[in-house]
Amino acid sequence: MSDRRQYRDARSVYRLGRSTFAVLLVATMVAACSGSSSPRSSSAPAEHRATATLRQLADRRHLLIGSAVADRPLRTEADYRRVLGREFNLVEPEDAMKWSTVHPARDTYDFTAGDRLVQFAEQHGMKVRGHNLVWEKFNPAWLTSLTPSRTEAIALLRDHITAVVSHYRGKIAQWDVVNEALAEGDRGSMRDGVWLRWIGPEYVPMAFRFAHDADPGAQLFYNDYDWRSPGPKTDHILELAQHIRDSGAPIDGIGLQLHVLHSLNVAAERSKLRAIANAGFDVAMTEVDNRRKLPAVTAALGDQARKFGDLLGMCLAIPRCRTFNLWGFTDRHSWIPGAFPGFGAGTIMDKGLRPKPAFFALRRALLSR
Ligand code: XIL
Repeated sequence: MSDRRQYRDARSVYRLGRSTFAVLLVATMVAACSGSSSPRSSSAPAEHRATATLRQLADRRHLLIGSAVADRPLRTEADYRRVLGREFNLVEPEDAMKWSTVHPARDTYDFTAGDRLVQFAEQHGMKVRGHNLVWEKFNPAWLTSLTPSRTEAIALLRDHITAVVSHYRGKIAQWDVVNEALAEGDRGSMRDGVWLRWIGPEYVPMAFRFAHDADPGAQLFYNDYDWRSPGPKTDHILELAQHIRDSGAPIDGIGLQLHVLHSLNVAAERSKLRAIANAGFDVAMTEVDNRRKLPAVTAALGDQARKFGDLLGMCLAIPRCRTFNLWGFTDRHSWIPGAFPGFGAGTIMDKGLRPKPAFFALRRALLSR
C-alpha cells in the first residue's frame, strides 16, 4: 500500500487553514458555551478557561479524536449526543457492529444500531472507525455451536465480512478487521476460539483480504491489547502485523487498545511506536481508558490525567499516529464497572459530563508542540 494512499483519507478530512483556525479559536473562547461541561471558573488556570473543544484543537493537529459510542445513550440522551458531536471528529460503535449485534441469526443481519451511528457521524461531519469484523469473543451462539468444515468456515467468514463491509462501503474510514487474535501471556501464540480451530491461523490474513475486496478504500487495522514496553505482547503484535503483510494481505495499521493499567514508560513506549511506524504501519490508539478503584481519589485522577496526556503526546509525536480514540468519554457510560467490579472512573468526563483532569490533559497535549 503506498504512503500516498495511507495518508490520503486523513489529509482529505482537514481543510482548516491556519487563519481559519485562529478565528475559530478566538470565537470559541469568547462565545458563551452551553452545556454543563463548560469550565469557566475565574480562578481556573488559563487552559481551563479556554473553551476551544478537543475537536477543534485536534482538527488543527490533523488528528482524529474519537470515542466508542454506546447505542442506548445515543438514542435517548440529548446531552450525550451534544457533547459527542462537539468534542470529537471520530466515532466508533462500542458493540453495534460486532457479530452478535449485526448478525444475530444465520440468515439475519441487523444494521439498525450501526446505521444510527453512521448517520450521526454524517450529520456532524465525523469519521467512523468500524469495530470489529472477527473476534474470538462476543460471537452469537448460533455461530459458535456450528461444526463447519474448514471450507464452510471460510465461507462463513467471507460472507459475514463481505455483507458488513459492503453495507458500509465508503462510510467507514478505518476497520478493526481482526481483534485480539493473540493469546494472553508472553509466548505470542494465537488465542483459542472457533476461528482458530475451524480455519487455523490463516483466518487472520484471510479476513483482511475479504475486507479489502468489499471496500478497497477503507483503512484496515489489526487491533489488540496489553501494549506495554518493555513487554512481550508488544513485539508479538508487530510480528503478527508483519506476518499479515508478508502473506500478501492488505493491512494499513495496528490498533493499540490501551486500556492502561500500568505506569507508562514514555521513552520506551515512544520508541516502540516508532518501530511500528518504521515497519510501515500506521498506529491508532483505539480504546484508551484508565480504570481506577472506586471511589477514585483526587490523586488517582491526577495520575489518570498524566496517563491520558502522555499517551496523546506520544501519538502526536509520531506522524503515522493520527487516530486517538477513547473507550467511552463519560463515566456515565463505560464498560469498566460491568467488566471489572469495584472499578470505574476511567474516562475523561464524570457522570454529569463535567470534564475531569484527564480532559484538560488532552487539551494541553493538543495545545503543546
Ligand atoms: C466491550 C464493550 O465495551 C462492552 O459493552 C461489551 O459488553 C464487551 O466488549 N476490547 C475490545 C472491545 O476490543 O470491543 C471491548 O468492548 C473492550 C475490550
